[in-house]
Amino acid sequence: MCGIVGIVGQQPVSDRLVDALKRLEYRGYDSAGVATIVEGALHRRRAEGKLVNLETRLKDEPLGGNIGIGHTRWATHGASTERNAHPHFTDGVAVVHNGIIENFTELKDELTAAGAEFQTDTDTEVVAHLLARHRREGMRRREAMAAMLKRVRGAYALAIIFEDDPSTIMAARNGPPLAIGHGDGEMFLGSDAIALAPFTNEITYLIDGDWAVIGKTGAHIFDFDGQPVERPRQTSTAAAALADKGNHRHFMEKEIYEQPEVISHALGHHINIIENRADMVSGIDFARIPSLAISACGTAYLAGLVGKYWFERYARLTVEIDVASEFRYREIPLSPQSAALFISQSGETADTLASLRYCKDLGLKVGAIVNTCESTIAREADAVFPILAGPEIGVASTKAFTCQLAVLAALAIGAARARRTVTEDEAQALVSSLAEVPRVMGQVLDSIQPEIELLSRELSKCRHVLYLGRGTSFPLAMEGALKLKEISYIHAEGYAAGELKHGPIALIDENMPVIVIAPHDRFFDKTASNMQEVAARGGRIILITDERGATASKLDTMHTIVLPVVDEIIAPMIFSLPIQLLAYHTALFMGTDVDQPRNLAKSVTVE
Ligand code: F6R
Repeated sequence: MCGIVGIVGQQPVSDRLVDALKRLEYRGYDSAGVATIVEGALHRRRAEGKLVNLETRLKDEPLGGNIGIGHTRWATHGASTERNAHPHFTDGVAVVHNGIIENFTELKDELTAAGAEFQTDTDTEVVAHLLARHRREGMRRREAMAAMLKRVRGAYALAIIFEDDPSTIMAARNGPPLAIGHGDGEMFLGSDAIALAPFTNEITYLIDGDWAVIGKTGAHIFDFDGQPVERPRQTSTAAAALADKGNHRHFMEKEIYEQPEVISHALGHHINIIENRADMVSGIDFARIPSLAISACGTAYLAGLVGKYWFERYARLTVEIDVASEFRYREIPLSPQSAALFISQSGETADTLASLRYCKDLGLKVGAIVNTCESTIAREADAVFPILAGPEIGVASTKAFTCQLAVLAALAIGAARARRTVTEDEAQALVSSLAEVPRVMGQVLDSIQPEIELLSRELSKCRHVLYLGRGTSFPLAMEGALKLKEISYIHAEGYAAGELKHGPIALIDENMPVIVIAPHDRFFDKTASNMQEVAARGGRIILITDERGATASKLDTMHTIVLPVVDEIIAPMIFSLPIQLLAYHTALFMGTDVDQPRNLAKSVTVE
């Protein structure tokens, strides 16, 4: 993770570096720093914690200089201290880095044996020392850069300035994204186009193995072997304005309440596509593929898991699914005639990108379900299915999850139609159900907050919570648990309701709330039996069901949240709302940092 920026300009850069870093804070917020060159000498300001601490430091000790680099950190190697904050300095070289230098131990040993003195616990510092050593050996800056890149292994987006060259930034990419921005007599560098949007929309993306020498008027790009290469310049649509919270206390709250609106965009777009039978045009011929693979991480993976139920049930399509960090290494025997879908809000998640490349190499057609259509995953996919959720700033994914579900549902219906596994009438009925989602979401959001708040006060007193569900409610149970643990830090687990008696039932006692997600669907009676098993052992049940389920349930629950009765295909979208709100309000009672929970980042560009 981490966000990096650079500006080589005609005016002082430190304020603009911080502006750009603000737009990258979603990539990590453990520490931040900037470095510039003033009168032939490198200077830096760094601060532990959020960017606001660096801003304060810069107010107290302003930094001049018309060239500079900056960094916002998600710690991998070394604690989140100021000492480990980037930029790292060694003998006239300053470096910021996003990624992991995998052979840093070996390089550090070698450099230390040759007399280098390391100041930090980071992997990144080896880059600065290697460059400094090559310069001492008499290499010119570009030669030193090329030689350093031949030594480091792993993932990196790098920005480097040399004290003896106040007009050039060097950059390199292998893995994490890196964009060069073209200004008027000034040039920019950033982890994404959003960071650069206040300065320019003219962007050149580096690809893996590229490195660049960036001056005030342009950039020279080289491949790994040092050969000059051309990369296209494109106009980015990233907006310059930073998203704001409106009347909400947190971005997460705003994003929860935005769902009826954004999901209507996602559904409108994709229902249109399936009605026009554009699935062939989009590059995936669902009628012919023998199977489908799906891979993603975290919440996006759980959306994919719901999607698996839909593709299997409606389109009779076998789905192989795994979290991307396993998928990429499992050596799954996939047929090149199959297709694969990769789901990612950011479009930059390292493991998801690696899984996509793995499938592309095997010859599969790959589709990307993404929120950021200029992302690496979108650019490398054969077909892009935008979720149209708008910027998601809260680290805990909410609206992106339900929009991913909306797109997956639309694709599953499109696939079912293409494969003739549903009749035209059945397909139409499913589409009509989808069209109901925004209205029902609005109705639920308007009514459930008071009871969620009461319940959240109780949950905030607990140390452990269990979530149960069956069918598509099982991935939702896991999503509920993930949401609760990531923002309230309360330990939670999501289980398939039927698995309860195979182990977790041992945990049940009067202190353990069990949140059961059970719309009155085909599985309700089965899940009701599992609830009886919990009740018989003194467990406290919070049931999230619909009006029919509430009538059918004969249980004395701690609380029952009653939602409107909806068709089975849209239940996961509607039932997401109470689990998101429960996590949000519990976190409020716990007093945690809801939008930027500890240890997390919004874009995970390391393995
Ligand atoms: C949890 C959450 C994460 C992300 C995961 C994948 O609330 O947001 O689990 O879903 O890191 O991120 P993307 O979708 O950007 O690939």
